[in-house]
Amino acid sequence: MKSSVQKWILAASLVAALAAVLATTLLRSGSAYAGGDAPKNVKSAILKGKSKDDVKKYMKEKITKALGVQCDYCHNLDDMAADTPKKKRAVQMLEMVSTINKKYMGGKEEVGCMTCHRGKAKPDAK
Ligand code: HEC
Ligand code: HEC
Repeated sequence: MKSSVQKWILAASLVAALAAVLATTLLRSGSAYAGGDAPKNVKSAILKGKSKDDVKKYMKEKITKALGVQCDYCHNLDDMAADTPKKKRAVQMLEMVSTINKKYMGGKEEVGCMTCHRGKAKPDAK
């Protein structure tokens, strides 16, 4: 016969396991993504719903070259999902680009980071 202490420990660990499963399910359901690993903190209309691999591909092909920078210009390399001032600015730029393309370019990807930046992090206005 188990002691009441043992029963208590058993019940407590069952509750803890259940809570862990529930928390994982809730976290997962927050992000709809197209296969692969889900990114944690992707908000823009252009990148939302994409897998982490596709987000990385976009970073490499469309962003770093266009701005002439490396990943650490915007990211905290210890936590790629963390917001930084430059990353927040880049989210605004992503939204701007998607609005321009949707509203004025018939939904085609005509305007991108390269259109203005041309290899510079801060393009000249004049
Ligand atoms: C100009 C700024 C900028 C640069 C440079 C940049 N990123 Fe990003 N990155 C972003 C932004 C902005 C997001 C979030 C996009 C969104 O919210 O739609 C992001 C998101 C990500 C994420 C998703 C993280 C998560 O879990 O939420 C990964 C992974 C990532 N970037 C990898 C890279 C890699 C690898 C490089 C270098 C090749 C790179 N990034 C360069 C701005 C940048
Ligand atoms: C219509 C022109 C235009 C397009 C397109 C554009 N940008 Fe920009 N961007 C600018 C201008 C102008 C600045 C400088 C003014 C400022 O920093 O607010 C800038 C500044 C930035 C900065 C801040 C740089 C710094 O060092 O402070 C980031 C980050 C950035 N853009 C990312 C992007 C990304 C990523 C894209 C593509 C999704 C993009 N931009 C597309 C015009 C543009």
